[in-house]
Amino acid sequence: MRTPIVAANWKMYKTAREAEAFCREFLPQRSRARGVELVLLPPFTALEAVARALEGSEVALGAQNLFWEEEGAYTGEISPRMLGAAGCSYVVIGHSERRRLFGETDEHVHRKVAAALGHALLPIVCVGETLEEREAGRTEEVVVRQVKAAFHGLAADEVARCVVAYEPVWAIGTGRNATGEDANQICGLIRRTLAGLYGEGAASAVRLQYGGSVKPENAAEFARQPEIDGALVGGASLEPGKFIAIAEAFVP
Ligand code: 13P
Repeated sequence: MRTPIVAANWKMYKTAREAEAFCREFLPQRSRARGVELVLLPPFTALEAVARALEGSEVALGAQNLFWEEEGAYTGEISPRMLGAAGCSYVVIGHSERRRLFGETDEHVHRKVAAALGHALLPIVCVGETLEEREAGRTEEVVVRQVKAAFHGLAADEVARCVVAYEPVWAIGTGRNATGEDANQICGLIRRTLAGLYGEGAASAVRLQYGGSVKPENAAEFARQPEIDGALVGGASLEPGKFIAIAEAFVP
C-alpha cells in the first residue's frame, strides 16, 4: 500500500511571518488527515521558519526548486545541500511554471532529479501537457517523454522513492480541473511507463499526485481513483482549512 501524499505548493506566496501564522493555525488540525503524508513547500525565504514551526509534527518540508551543483558561482541559485541543511526532505522539480517562465528543459529536470536523489532529497517531479498539446491529441506523448527524460539512467530503487505529479498545464490556477477519470488514466500511463523501464516493483512504489485546481469540493473525486495517491495543491493550499480538508479526502 502506498501512503497518500498531499503537498502544499505555495509558489511565490507568504513571507516567513505569514508562513509561521499558517503553521500555527494548521498544525492543530493535522490529525484530521491521519495516515496521509503532508508536505509544505514554502518559498526559500520561509524554509527555516517553517522548519522550526514543524519540529516534532510529522509534517514534511520541501522546496519548490533547486540547482544541481553542490556550491559555486551560481548567483541566485540554491543547492541540494543547502536544502537538506534547511530541513527539507522533498523538492519540487520541473513545475510547469519553471518550464514555461524560466526555460527549464527536460534535460534540466533530469539533472535536478539526479542531484536531489544524490543528496537524499525526494523529488516531486511535475509533468503535464499544455492546452495546445492536449487539443492536438499529444497528451500521452508529451507526458511519456517528460517521464522518460526525468528518470533517464537512474536505478530502480532511486525511481521508487520519487513522487510524480501529473499537472495538466491548462488546469493550473484556472479553476478548470481535469476529471478524476482523465487524471487517473494519465497516472496509469505514467505507472506503466515506469514499469516498462524500471520494473513493476519500482513502478508500484512511486506515488502519483494530481495537481491543477484541486480544492476541498473536488478532492474526493481524485482520492477515489486507484492510480492517484495524492495531490499537489497550489491556490487552495494557502489557507490552512482548505489544505487540511483536501488532505482529509485522501485518508485511507
Ligand atoms: P492550483 O492548485 O492553484 O491550480 O496550482 C496547482 C499547482 O501548480 C501545484 O503545483
